[in-house]
Amino acid sequence: MMNGQTSDVITDVSNDEYVINRDDVSDELMSVIKSLTSSRRYVPQWYVYDTRGSEMCEELIQNSKTYNSWQHEFNILQGHADEIVAKVSFSAVLVDLGSGGSSKTRLVIEAMRKRRGRLTFVPVDMAKEFIESCGRQLEREYPGLTVEPFGGLYMDGVRHAAAREEAKLFLFLGNSFSNIPLSEQGKMLQEIRANLKAADRFVLGLDMNTDRETLLQAYGKQWAPIWRDNLINRFNKDFVGDMDAEKFEYNVDFVENPADGDTPSYVVKHLSSSGKQRVHFETLGLDIDFEDGEKIYFYEGPNTSCKWNPGQVRRLVEKSGFAVDAYWTNDEDNYCVFCLKPTDFPPV
Ligand SMILES: C[S@@+](CC[C@H](N)C(=O)[O-])C[C@H]1O[C@@H](n2cnc3c(N)ncnc32)[C@H](O)[C@@H]1O
Repeated sequence: MMNGQTSDVITDVSNDEYVINRDDVSDELMSVIKSLTSSRRYVPQWYVYDTRGSEMCEELIQNSKTYNSWQHEFNILQGHADEIVAKVSFSAVLVDLGSGGSSKTRLVIEAMRKRRGRLTFVPVDMAKEFIESCGRQLEREYPGLTVEPFGGLYMDGVRHAAAREEAKLFLFLGNSFSNIPLSEQGKMLQEIRANLKAADRFVLGLDMNTDRETLLQAYGKQWAPIWRDNLINRFNKDFVGDMDAEKFEYNVDFVENPADGDTPSYVVKHLSSSGKQRVHFETLGLDIDFEDGEKIYFYEGPNTSCKWNPGQVRRLVEKSGFAVDAYWTNDEDNYCVFCLKPTDFPPV
């Protein structure tokens, strides 16, 4: 602390240390800068989803001709929401991890309200303003629905909801679990399991499509306005930066792993610097140098969007203190919604 200013020391890729001014910069935003300057440059996935990013994402996933996971999961929930909600008691609270626009969750809300007019819904998402506004809209549309948004990280939301007395139906839809780094997935499931009671259920929507060409199209250039342009806009807004979206290229790849192994295949997305360049963030008094072709990944682990098979999912959840209570696939058999129940096995 100097002259009333708060500062942090950041070590960049080439081990240079920067003392940066962090007055008025929240811990959350500091975590973004720390990940951007770490040895493997990345952004936490939630950072892409400010309100504008969330709106753009909803628009794309619902209307794209080549990205079909939203539609696959929607079809499964449309056909089986009644069976899913029958897994918990009438008075259960609905909790949605990474709820975003809750566009598919509506089907579950409707199924729960058919059984009992009143329902408490807890959407959990880092995009706080976005879920608050979606929550107000849901309350207007569904009388008897109380929405209690939790703006924060997944696990903080799980602990927050676990403190409630009622049984809980947790949803983790949109293949979002697949963006958790591979090395963290088992630990996260164990932590979730540790917060569940016997009457709770955990519903996990996972993508099973491993067709390389389809995936490269699905995650291709159509995402650049969100994952590059809006992201760089957000950087410039949050840190008064001069980052130029035109000087970064959005790229995607698919890493295929053996189907009989435990590691799922996964998509890799990154921005790569077109040329050597320096980016300045005024708020922090920070310059970041990029080499030609240097990458910024969209998560701390190697993977985004894992692509699973049923054996891999079963082995992972059983190791983490869950059993598969039921599952539903779409007609093409390339998307699956699992209902998991906690087992007696002490997970942590
Ligand atoms: C792929 S979208 C899924 C939205 C919705 N559940 C669906 O299936 O359409 C992922 C959502 O998770 C949120 N998110 C990402 N990482 C998060 C984290 N670590 N903690 C809380 N929310 C997170 C994002 O803000 C975004 O709204």
